[in-house]
Amino acid sequence: MSLLLKGGTVVTHEMTFQADVLCDNGKIVAIGQSLNAPDGAEIRDVAGKLIMPGGIDPHTHMQLPFMGTVAADDFASGTAAALAGGTTSIIDFVIPNPGQPLMEAYHQWRDWSAKAMANYSFHVAITWWDESVHADMQTLVEEYGVNSFKHFMAYKNAIMATDDILVASFSRCLELGAIPTVHAENGELVYHLQRQMLSQGMTGPEAHPLSRPPEVEGEAAHRAISIAATLGAPIYLVHCSVEESVDAIRYAQNKGQHVYGECLAGHLVVDDSVYQDPDWDKAAAHVMSPPFRPKKHQDALWQGLQAGTLQTTATDHCAFCTAQKAMGEDDFTRIPNGTAGVEERMAVLWEKGVNSGKLTPNEFVAVTSTNAARIFNIYPAKGSVTVGADADLVVWDPDASKTISAATQMSNIEHNIFEGMQVTGLPVLTICNGNIAWDNGTLLAKAGDGKYIDRPAYAPYYHALQKRRQLATPVPVVR
Ligand code: URP
Ligand code: ZN
Ligand code: ZN
Repeated sequence: MSLLLKGGTVVTHEMTFQADVLCDNGKIVAIGQSLNAPDGAEIRDVAGKLIMPGGIDPHTHMQLPFMGTVAADDFASGTAAALAGGTTSIIDFVIPNPGQPLMEAYHQWRDWSAKAMANYSFHVAITWWDESVHADMQTLVEEYGVNSFKHFMAYKNAIMATDDILVASFSRCLELGAIPTVHAENGELVYHLQRQMLSQGMTGPEAHPLSRPPEVEGEAAHRAISIAATLGAPIYLVHCSVEESVDAIRYAQNKGQHVYGECLAGHLVVDDSVYQDPDWDKAAAHVMSPPFRPKKHQDALWQGLQAGTLQTTATDHCAFCTAQKAMGEDDFTRIPNGTAGVEERMAVLWEKGVNSGKLTPNEFVAVTSTNAARIFNIYPAKGSVTVGADADLVVWDPDASKTISAATQMSNIEHNIFEGMQVTGLPVLTICNGNIAWDNGTLLAKAGDGKYIDRPAYAPYYHALQKRRQLATPVPVVR
């Protein structure tokens, strides 16, 4: 199975050059001028097009059981949507119920994900703590290729990780060579403000952002970063949505701390006016956490990406259809939290980032693919166009245009947070494991074509961090 891409322009995170790219048996085997096609190879003329690493979305929730329902895109439809948008790998989340053994939850998610069409990997959430969690984290790192653990600082009375859990788990991550990640929102404050809104008769989606103001995120971002700093652990903050988070990350980075930040395509371009929509369904379709923010925060996120304070872009793809959102018609706190975007992330970043002059094409590659591969330790197999790398590529037509619409999307839901946005710059071919998975509007991938991505522990990187950790006070395991 060979595929020769002829006459394109290769764009990586660091350079741009004219070359043919030959893929064979799932790998990139040659890059150069006027390559010859082996017998039987498929040849595609990609003159005028860009050959870039396939997108990596480091934050999705396919088929997530959440808030009394299950996300509407499963691992098949969700990864089909990813491929249609030029994304060849997702990092999803295993989220054990409090008290559920980690390994049981992990195997449950592996079963669900067997039908993925694109490549996939898992962060594992730490939603409770005991000796078995401590032990299973090691099993996951050493035997199952998990190198990141997620902590929800919000969702009180459900999956929230309290400070004692953060301290125990971050310490354990450091021992194992894994990276802790956080959803930074102060869950106690959210809970308090939600009760306050409801008691004042505010039951609709417009109360959602009021119950989760920027300070709620900023406080939690500071706290998580400070805990990590005290322990000498690195930390990755998912879906940063406010200036306060960007400032906290920049401050810590300037002090030499290993802090990484992610932002969502949605938070970069959608603002909080959506919650004022008189159409309840449309407003509820935008209920996600953290919520969409006033415009000034979008500027801070873009500046964070441009400066390198934030390294990755994701979607938090967690799709709920209108009927599911209606579970909260009398009480906004019951509206399932989540929005989609895995199909649109790359096009939105190109349109609003590259076409607007905020990002160069090389920076686009960095923030949509390479940086996630580096941070989660799968580079250069993923996130690069180099000989020996996995043949996960997107062929991009910078002149192709479309108007984003739910009517034409792959995702299983009836709405789209980018509805009506005109984008120029689209994937024409998505190549996953050396196979053409998406061919200019036609999905060729099949359920099960996606491969599980093993992510090894960070041994060399942690050597330096562990030295620093010797200076920190050892934290006893919470029993
Ligand atoms: O609203 C959201 N983001 N739903 C998915 C779960 C999470 O917090 O990431
Ligand atoms: Zn979250
Ligand atoms: Zn999420």
